Amino acid sequence: MSEFKKITIAIDGYSSCGKSTMAKALAKELGYIFIDSGAMYRGVTLYCMRHNLFNSRGNPIHEQVIKALTFISINFEFNALKGTSDLILNAENVENEIRMPDVASKVSAIASIKEVREKLVEEQRKLGANGGIVMDGRDIGSVVFPNAELKLFVTAKPEIRAQRRYAELVSKNIETSYEEVLKNLIERDHLDSTRSESPLIKTSDAIEIDTSELTPQTQLAIAAQFAYNNLIC
Ligand code: CDP
Repeated sequence: MSEFKKITIAIDGYSSCGKSTMAKALAKELGYIFIDSGAMYRGVTLYCMRHNLFNSRGNPIHEQVIKALTFISINFEFNALKGTSDLILNAENVENEIRMPDVASKVSAIASIKEVREKLVEEQRKLGANGGIVMDGRDIGSVVFPNAELKLFVTAKPEIRAQRRYAELVSKNIETSYEEVLKNLIERDHLDSTRSESPLIKTSDAIEIDTSELTPQTQLAIAAQFAYNNLIC
């Protein structure tokens, strides 16, 4: 791919709709860097949970979270065994911990805090400064990289998304139920798309892909076709 310019690919969409799987495979296909921006919000959430920055009702204590941001460093480290990057929180590999349901239940509240977003968006822009990147999240095409050459907006029916996430958690021996996963997914979708700071939206220049009936291979083939069309334009 070296004869082509390195573009920026933004992939946004609802929870568990296959964004990361598609983004990861697409980055591999193109020889690009893949960044899971959701992992970064999960990392900040884990830090806040470990430091008891939630009130008795389970809501984040904003002033304390904002103060804590100075002490939080978020990085990625390539994991050769998996062929993808793990999240590093203050020098500790927390890739497994951030995928746990208790983190999933708190992450959207943390991600709605303006200062948290400012910090992570700055980091995300640095990671993508040279192009050649596929980043997935909620605000990548709208806020992080509004000039991305290719923007994909991924959707799928809620029940199918919950089924996929449930199967993924079961395969990792993480205890949960389908109902719990579906409830979390609906709650997060609602919070993510109604928050005042960078809500999840489909920008007018984004291409929508409904993955409800697609295998990961077909999903990748569709995304890769859009990417190649873009590279030769
Ligand atoms: O994997 P899944 O689609 O369930 O979620 P994720 O990508 O790991 O993101 C976790 C949460 O982080 C989301 O539900 C959002 O609340 C937040 N997030 C965000 O606000 N902005 C992003 N660019 C990425 C994630």
